[in-house]
Amino acid sequence: MSEIKTIAVLTSGGDAPGMNAAVRAVVRSGIYHGLNVLGVRKGYEGLLHGDIEKMTLRSVGDIIHRGGTILQTARSKEFTTQAGLEKAMSMMKIFNIDALVVIGGDGSYRGARDLSELGANVIGIPGTIDNDIGCTEYTIGYDTAMNTVLDAIDKIRDTSYSHERCSVLEVMGRNAGWIAINCGIAGGAEAVILPEKNFDIDKDIIYPIIEGRNRGKKHYLVIVAEGVGGAVEIAEYIEKKTDIITRATILGYIQRGGCPTIKDRVIASQMGNYAVELLLAGKKNRIIAVHNGKMTDFEINEALSMEKSIDEELVRLSKILAL
Ligand code: F6P
Repeated sequence: MSEIKTIAVLTSGGDAPGMNAAVRAVVRSGIYHGLNVLGVRKGYEGLLHGDIEKMTLRSVGDIIHRGGTILQTARSKEFTTQAGLEKAMSMMKIFNIDALVVIGGDGSYRGARDLSELGANVIGIPGTIDNDIGCTEYTIGYDTAMNTVLDAIDKIRDTSYSHERCSVLEVMGRNAGWIAINCGIAGGAEAVILPEKNFDIDKDIIYPIIEGRNRGKKHYLVIVAEGVGGAVEIAEYIEKKTDIITRATILGYIQRGGCPTIKDRVIASQMGNYAVELLLAGKKNRIIAVHNGKMTDFEINEALSMEKSIDEELVRLSKILAL
């Protein structure tokens, strides 16, 4: 059985819709099981500076529907140094923190692993819109971000149709094309350009546009993943080669904010509760994941060594349906 009395929770790296639902679940589940729960502000940066407060049932009231993170987040340089890690460990001792729940992406897990090597017990919850964490099929924020992108695509489509234009839309995802490929399929894109796949601009973009025009298409959509980039240059090239007026939109941070979808709220709630139950079961240094559709957990180093590749079936489908 566990000896744990006090746990702390923080959010780290880029914010993602649903992080608040996960914080809420950690706090409420912890209190339900009789634990003392602390909230660390501004990620590891706040841990270094003792920016830590006691959480109550009410401190997570009225947040399940809010985007961003009430605990705020940061990317801390100091924490990545040996001196920073030691300072964080001593702060954990000062606040009697027996275990730390970190909600964030791969970068945040590397920090967690370094802390665990100094003796800390750390549980990771996957939170990033990019869905780019190797050990899990799902990350908190991914569904909301995709719905935000899809809403933008539907709006851009109106203008594209009205003016018979081509639109090039650059979407986030860091080095992964998960948001791009799903939104390309759901938004009916003529082409989706992914960081995981080499592309030839004439073959993969210009040809399908000209072909489509010959078959009577009146407007066109090209999705470019952030990991490829260059939406403006791609739009200029399309216009030059096809004479179709082409506009680029880089969606940017709108994808990170907003009210989380039901999927993000429910999965975040499950993951937050799972984190507390892992600790109560005496588990140490685990990353929570959705694997083969089920909630599970991996040892932190194993989780960090896992890789995932883009879903080839989705790539194939997007090409078939782009006809
Ligand atoms: O990880 C989420 C994400 O929005 C990525 O899609 C993007 O590459 C990155 O964060 C942007 O980071 P920052 O907030 O530091 O600009």
